[in-house]
Amino acid sequence: MKKHECALFDLDGVIVDTAKYHFLAWKKIASNFKYNLTHEDNELLKGVSRIESLKIILKLANKSLDEVLFEKILIQKNKDYLNFIQNITPEDILPGISEALFYLKKKQIKIGLGSASKNAKIVLDLLELTSYFEVIIDGNNINRSKPDPEVFLRGSSALGIAPDKCLVFEDSASGILAAKTAGMTAVAIGSPDTFLKEDFCYPNFLTFFKGDLHQLF
Ligand code: BG6
Ligand code: MG
Repeated sequence: MKKHECALFDLDGVIVDTAKYHFLAWKKIASNFKYNLTHEDNELLKGVSRIESLKIILKLANKSLDEVLFEKILIQKNKDYLNFIQNITPEDILPGISEALFYLKKKQIKIGLGSASKNAKIVLDLLELTSYFEVIIDGNNINRSKPDPEVFLRGSSALGIAPDKCLVFEDSASGILAAKTAGMTAVAIGSPDTFLKEDFCYPNFLTFFKGDLHQLF
């Protein structure tokens, strides 16, 4: 297997199960439009920015909003999300992640974060993982949402590693497309029927850590 020099991690749904809190917060918003947001709908929201997510929900619910209300809902969604995550601790780090970060650091593999979330730093701090990341690219540093490759290309360029030497971990279909468009190896975490162009797919990170991780770095 090809060896990589850089690992780029998505955050929500890969490092910690905050994807479920984004879902709950959006579900509450959608219910105000009398729309029942399903888990299937939620796959479309994973990896996508807050603004894009609300646009997708409005389309699903067949609703339109004026700018003022749109903005108000974005603020409410984030308030609810921040409430959900306020009590997360290092115990919420998903199985295999801490071990993988430790292993990669020891092997001097460059580690970066590539997340669409504007709350990424808050979450990494709560998990006490910030110091592992040499570079953090999040929703505050990018102009285009996944599946655009911007977030990962910025990561690889900040770390000084060519895209084809980078490996991306993602739980979203849009994130896998972003990684492949960036010319990187894409490891999908989740069910294979969720993704289109992944190089590898594992049901969870621990399976990957116990298996192929050591061959890929
Ligand atoms: C991504 C999540 O990581 O961040 C999306 O997968 C979320 O569900 C996006 O909408 C933006 O997050 P935030 O925290 O800026 O609202
Ligand atoms: Mg994710």
